[in-house]
Amino acid sequence: MEFQLEETQRLVQETAREYATRAIAPRAREIDRDAHIPRALLAGLADIGLLGVNVPEALGGAGAGVVAYSLAMTEVAKACASTAVTMAVSNMVAEVIATFGTDAQRTTYVPRLCDGTLVAGSFALSEPEAGSDPGAMRTTARREGGEWVLDGSKQWITSGDFAGVFVVWARTGGPGTKGISAFLVEKDAPGLSVGHHEDKMGLRGSSTTALHFDRCRIPGSALLGQENGGFKIAMMALDGGRIGIASQALGIGEAALEKGIAYAKERKAFGAPIADKQAIQWMIADARTELDAARLLTLRAAWLKEKGVAFSQQAAMAKLWSSEAAWRVCDRALQIHGGYGYVKEYDVERHYRDVRVTRIYEGTSEVQRIVISRGAIG
Ligand code: CAA
Repeated sequence: MEFQLEETQRLVQETAREYATRAIAPRAREIDRDAHIPRALLAGLADIGLLGVNVPEALGGAGAGVVAYSLAMTEVAKACASTAVTMAVSNMVAEVIATFGTDAQRTTYVPRLCDGTLVAGSFALSEPEAGSDPGAMRTTARREGGEWVLDGSKQWITSGDFAGVFVVWARTGGPGTKGISAFLVEKDAPGLSVGHHEDKMGLRGSSTTALHFDRCRIPGSALLGQENGGFKIAMMALDGGRIGIASQALGIGEAALEKGIAYAKERKAFGAPIADKQAIQWMIADARTELDAARLLTLRAAWLKEKGVAFSQQAAMAKLWSSEAAWRVCDRALQIHGGYGYVKEYDVERHYRDVRVTRIYEGTSEVQRIVISRGAIG
């Protein structure tokens, strides 16, 4: 058993760290304040291969694997969680098209997702009344002539207002999970409009919108995978996506802990730095241990996916633990800062808001427990 990174993995990690520290971190507060990620930052991610880390080189990706993807995601999330989730969803979309697309779909979309031409990809599964239970979705797709016609609405869609291509799930058959298909929809498809922009507690830089499909016509060739086979594509994509969110949560937690430690060394109370107090030392010890456990679970899930071994359970465990541990770490880091942690002048205030959603999206903690318990109990 090796606990060391391979050369490519180290290189991707260092490249991501350098870009995140130099270009993204100095703008993280502005991104949060203005609720906008400068497009040049996304183009910069594309330039260094971070919009298709685990996508084959033949399709324009970095071909660096899942472990490298996880490492890069953690580095970007340390700098700015909003930029990280935009990157995560775009990588997920590029991978899902590379995996399930026809040759024409792969060559049409994947290279342009990886090089930033399409700006970002977007994953349109959730609906106002179908979040944890996507099998209850109501959006429909029906054949008309040689085309598909989509009707319905999606909600909580990351990058909904600027992504160049969407994977959209819609009902093509009977009720439940067996009657759902996936489609590739371009942003200027007739009948597609962007709805309400969510005014979120955290991840304010990432855009989250509704999408409306009103007799939205797309070509017959836009079907991704088998007709009525879309639910499994969503589940498989989300298994991988959960490694991305586990890595993102880890990055947010690492950023908060780093700032908590720095503050504890500098802040004096009762005549000495508060880092000398056991109450603070124990918070830091618990945070360090929980984040290391998150790192190990996340890298194990990434490694299994990379080796082509079943990883659904391990991805759910990584996402559950990492998001909940990082949330506790952000809370402790804020507590170490005292009143200063509660104001925007200090980054832990942003980390505390940003980390919360990692327990919700790409499957809530409760959904992860469903996946894990089904695997454990059978
Ligand atoms: N891989 C492959 N197939 C899978 C699978 C997986 N991981 N999980 C389930 N399936 C298959 C099952 O084998 C079953 O196949 P058969 O019909 O052939 O038997 C079929 O899919 C249906 O499975 P279930 O009966 O288990 O489905 P369910 O309705 O009970 O749902 C669930 C299970 C785990 C709760 C699932 O609904 C789920 O993951 N829900 C959460 C959805 C989610 O994560 N949404 C996030 C939205 S995207 C997002 O947040 C992105 C963003 O922008 C940040």
